Amino acid sequence: MSEDVFSKVRGVLNSIYEFRIETTDDLEFFRVRYLGTKSEVKALFGEIKNVDNDKKKDFGILLNEVKQAAEDKYASVKAILESADGTGLDSGLDLTAPSEPIISGSRHPVSVILNQITGIFSRIGFTVAEEREVEDDWHNFTAMNTPEDHPARDMQDTFYLKDSLTQLLRTHTSSVQARIMTTQKPPIRIIAPGRVYRNETISSRSHCQFHQVEGLYIDEGVTFADMKQTLLYFAREMYGPQTNIRLRPSFFPFTEPSAEMDVYWGLNNEDDYRITKGTGWLEILGCGMVDPNVLVNCGIDPSKYSGFAFGMGIERQAMLRYKVTDIRQFFENDVRFLRQFSGVI
Ligand code: PHE
Repeated sequence: MSEDVFSKVRGVLNSIYEFRIETTDDLEFFRVRYLGTKSEVKALFGEIKNVDNDKKKDFGILLNEVKQAAEDKYASVKAILESADGTGLDSGLDLTAPSEPIISGSRHPVSVILNQITGIFSRIGFTVAEEREVEDDWHNFTAMNTPEDHPARDMQDTFYLKDSLTQLLRTHTSSVQARIMTTQKPPIRIIAPGRVYRNETISSRSHCQFHQVEGLYIDEGVTFADMKQTLLYFAREMYGPQTNIRLRPSFFPFTEPSAEMDVYWGLNNEDDYRITKGTGWLEILGCGMVDPNVLVNCGIDPSKYSGFAFGMGIERQAMLRYKVTDIRQFFENDVRFLRQFSGVI
């Protein structure tokens, strides 16, 4: 018998919590139902005679809780509905007043360029590989054929983790090449966007953090001509269908032969002269055929497989596209800068 009465009380308590009060009419209905002279709560007090003697005390405590819950809810909702701040429906709120404008967010220009580049390569079968920014020395340097005494390993250039000579912030996305080659079997065709770090003096032209996109293609019979055609396709998608490219011989420890790719930007105005140093050509990326040593380091047979790799910086391309003259603006999160990109996708 007692248990029945207890569960009845709990039922009333729950209904108090769940009761939705949105208007003053609701509030009045609530008051009559739970706080008036004929309220459900009053009726519960009448049930005390049905409770076993040893439970009467607990029952009393529970009843007072119910009463208190109803009074608290009534008082707080009443205050909200009557408040002059417009939260209550009957508070004189002017429903015809114009609303606050909704300021929509915008994509970060670095994301815009990154997405475009990954989109261009995904259309020819490259899949996106994302990897860690805290790397070990092996994936960032050793596997990539960069000898122990290479100056890039110097503390001046590389951020090592505190008290560590092996854990570092990756200096290029080429570390992803090693991550992928040691865990996947050819054919490999990936594009790896991400943030990289170098211990450089911060200025309008260089920063200690920036973004790169790495590309890697490994299969049987991949040639330099495949690389050139892939990069020409990229340049034309990114910079327009008439774009011309040139490959200049270069050096990277992890590619042989290596090249740098320029796109022809033009010399139509003073700005063009300045940014292309009077040549009309802009350097966009580094590339080359994956050095057989790198394949061996990562457990891929260089007598069977060959491949090409490339890596490009993002901020510079974003600066060219949006005429941003100071790289630091990308990292300051000043809404006045970021808002200019609203609507750009
Ligand atoms: N990792 C090189 C850099 O950061 C770019 C690169 C990637 C060059 C892949 C060749 C091949 O400058």
